[in-house]
Amino acid sequence: MQQREIVVSGIRPTGFLHLGNYFGAIRQYLHMQESYECYFFVADYHALTTHQDPKLLRTQVYRVLAEYLACGLDPEKATIYVQSDLPEKAELYLLLNMLAYKGELEKVPTFKEKIRGRHESINAGLLTYPVLMAADILIHRAIKVPVGKDQEPHLEMARNLASRFNQKFGFLFPEPMAFSETGELLKVPSLDGKGKMSKSENEMATIYLADSDELIRKKIARAKTDAGPSTPHSPKSPEIENLFLLLKLVSSPETVAHFEEAYDRCTIRYGELKQQLANDMIRLVAPIRQRAADLQNDVEYLKKIRKVGAEKARDSAQTTLQRARELMGIAYD
Ligand code: TRP
Repeated sequence: MQQREIVVSGIRPTGFLHLGNYFGAIRQYLHMQESYECYFFVADYHALTTHQDPKLLRTQVYRVLAEYLACGLDPEKATIYVQSDLPEKAELYLLLNMLAYKGELEKVPTFKEKIRGRHESINAGLLTYPVLMAADILIHRAIKVPVGKDQEPHLEMARNLASRFNQKFGFLFPEPMAFSETGELLKVPSLDGKGKMSKSENEMATIYLADSDELIRKKIARAKTDAGPSTPHSPKSPEIENLFLLLKLVSSPETVAHFEEAYDRCTIRYGELKQQLANDMIRLVAPIRQRAADLQNDVEYLKKIRKVGAEKARDSAQTTLQRARELMGIAYD
């Protein structure tokens, strides 16, 4: 049998999943689980780099797991697990840390962003976040990583570490690439025309998979608009551009074409566009929300999923780790 290409991706359990996670990552997972060897996990170690409330972690981990399944990830098709259930990753992370330079880690844009304006001390876990992420990917020797655009610098770091390891110790790791089916890494804009949807900031401008129908309507109704086009074929303001981007994600091509045309002819009513957008988002989100809520009530089932997933993931993790240890000379028997 021809070997299938290996795919890895994960999401940090630091808050409620939102449409950015859905369109940036999960929707791709759904396609990929059909034809690749997939490993999808909950990145709880990574959550510790910024969130440190031990009481919340369990709920958050099970919520992401439930939301994964509710979105359609299928444990029969993909390996679904929790990062810390696979301590092999922690060991590979330790080994890869020997190859990561302080200077290059300090230059990673996401690190610079995270420490900007922070007064509390910056822990080494935050600095070496990309090394842990490289371990996540390389432990399964994955080559495709479905992630949003913001993750590209981390992927570059993973490639650097892979090739450095291969050069120093002998070939072990193929170089992973960020992957998006549309060829373009997707960014889901927030509802206020500024930045993207986010797990923790800007809650009224982000649609979460757990939002009620009413809340979705309210958030969309509140989204910023402008005074409307006054001449045909006017360029769109960023707020309106974003509403159209969202419409393209959740509505049919006919609906999008209808509003594009209305915009070009200056007959558009933003109220109608928002109503349509809200209806189409609810059609997507409501069933996921309901399934996720049901699953979260069935912790025994989620525990089983965790266990089965970790066992499956361990096969490939142990093989890679063993090889990495040998190549680095940690082989004394
Ligand atoms: N850094 C990713 C994010 O914040 C989460 C993540 C951790 C990840 N490890 C990964 C994504 C490995 C893909 C592969 O979204």
